[in-house]
Amino acid sequence: MVMSARQYYSGTGGAADYTRESEFFAKLKMRNGTFKLTQPSRFRELETAFRPVLAERAAQLRDVLDVGVSTGVTTVELLRYLEACGSTPKITATDLFIDAHIVEVATGVRVLADPEGWPLQYDVAGLAIRPWIRRLDYVSLAFIPRQLAKAMLQPRLRALIRSGKSEPVQMITRALSRGDSIEFVEDDIMKRSPGLAGRFDLVRAANILNKSYFSADQIRLAVANIRAYLKGRGSLLIVTRTNEKGENSGTLFEVMADGSFAALMRVGGGSEVEDLILGLQEP
Ligand SMILES: C[S@@+](CC[C@H](N)C(=O)[O-])C[C@H]1O[C@@H](n2cnc3c(N)ncnc32)[C@H](O)[C@@H]1O
Repeated sequence: MVMSARQYYSGTGGAADYTRESEFFAKLKMRNGTFKLTQPSRFRELETAFRPVLAERAAQLRDVLDVGVSTGVTTVELLRYLEACGSTPKITATDLFIDAHIVEVATGVRVLADPEGWPLQYDVAGLAIRPWIRRLDYVSLAFIPRQLAKAMLQPRLRALIRSGKSEPVQMITRALSRGDSIEFVEDDIMKRSPGLAGRFDLVRAANILNKSYFSADQIRLAVANIRAYLKGRGSLLIVTRTNEKGENSGTLFEVMADGSFAALMRVGGGSEVEDLILGLQEP
């Protein structure tokens, strides 16, 4: 049985059970239609290949940005990996959806919702129920109460959240230990964030800048934002995508003196968006 948000955040659903954690997050459908999906240990071959370069520059890698982190499981691994390479980095982990709220709408009925009141999970007396509709629901007519519940609840949830009558939570992994220097921040990589400008020695974009998901123009826009977030000459960028077999196609880039990117190393034939990154016009 999938854990309810209450169980997850109170730690009563099995403290270090990452399978159950993944199950919990994988059932949360965000308002853009995506689910919170990620997999631990998915970058092994990439880590091995890039280790010599990252270890050589360990002292330089102080501020790191990981974009599109989902629950941050792989961000925690990135922190451990960079520490093993000899760095002591501070990581900023961003995603479109990080913040959520648990709202009690009636005795024994709670809803996990995003800040706009979009329901992510109902919890009725400890039983976790998905608010989203699947194809079978149209056959069984179960979509009617689901759609009604969502339409009626969303404005109420939003109002309760705005008036502070909710428990704020973050949709992040429990693999994070106290003292880990990772800050989770909601951010859209397609929009320039002045607060991130010029701050980072290394940016990682893993399983986000995919041609099947974004257009070439959107990827160029995201990469231009990433370049603005890097400190400048010598800063590094890792872009990778994991396929269904768990293999990575990734490239390690370096920012050159003129602000363009150069490819330093490749794994699995390199990133599928390498051409767009190397062809990016100078700032
Ligand atoms: C497949 S997950 C990748 C998670 C992790 N990086 C990994 O490789 O395991 C992609 C994540 O990108 C996020 N995402 C999608 N569009 C985004 C955007 N415009 N800005 C920031 N994050 C975005 C999604 O919310 C999702 O959590």
